[in-house]
Amino acid sequence: MSKEHEPVRALVFSASLRAGSFNTTLAKLAAGAIEKHGGEVDLAAMSAFDAPSYSQDAHTQSGFPPGAAELRRRLDANDAFVMASPEYNGSMPGLLKNVIDWVSRFRPQPFNGKHALLLSASPSMVGGNRGLWALRVPLEHLGSRVYPDMFSLAQAHQAFDSEGKLLNPQLAGRLDQTIGGFLELAEAAKNYPCAKTAWIEFLGEQPNSPIDRVDKPVPPPPEGRGGQGVRTDR
Ligand SMILES: Cc1cc2nc3c(=O)[nH]c(=O)nc-3n(C[C@H](O)[C@H](O)[C@H](O)COP(=O)(O)O)c2cc1C
Repeated sequence: MSKEHEPVRALVFSASLRAGSFNTTLAKLAAGAIEKHGGEVDLAAMSAFDAPSYSQDAHTQSGFPPGAAELRRRLDANDAFVMASPEYNGSMPGLLKNVIDWVSRFRPQPFNGKHALLLSASPSMVGGNRGLWALRVPLEHLGSRVYPDMFSLAQAHQAFDSEGKLLNPQLAGRLDQTIGGFLELAEAAKNYPCAKTAWIEFLGEQPNSPIDRVDKPVPPPPEGRGGQGVRTDR
């Protein structure tokens, strides 16, 4: 990563609550690789983001639960996020989708414009990769810039040494390369912003004008350095 620019700040967490989680081990490895490539890491535990099942009534009456507020705070404080997610029944775990749903109701919408890298680990032969394709959908819907490459660790129960490092040097190199490429793209977008898109939650469902629900541009930052696209305050 270039030294002249501010480092990319990345929230890193595993979407597993399990003690001894393979995804938590993978998230920690990713955190180390981010620091090695010059990024700053905010390592979090999923327990900090756990939230009761989303209910629009509970939301209206009681507001946001602490887990959702904490994930929003940590997303806002970082340029990027890295999730290591288990695959449950060919998709993402319910607790992860649930907190994404909660956080998506904040305005400005916190996922919009954030760079995302998706990782998974599973004892299976495909490493939980189907779950990541499912996870891309809500994140891209919410305006996150989901990195094209993903890293899925197959046979995770025998992939790590006693220190949590990958035993297979080719896989270790692939993870390092993926993280390096992700950080370079996030750094370029942070320091030379060029893609400005408007985030619209969804068209046609409310009677007010769709124009009212398009993000308003962020005021331009000083010295010609752009912001992260545009933000919503519908
Ligand atoms: C409800 C449930 C569904 C699962 N479905 C899948 C699956 O579809 N594909 C898969 O590879 N593993 C599946 N697994 C196995 C998980 O990959 C395995 O438990 C893994 O260790 C979970 O990640 P963790 O170690 O980070 O907690 C499932 C496990 C549970 C509890």
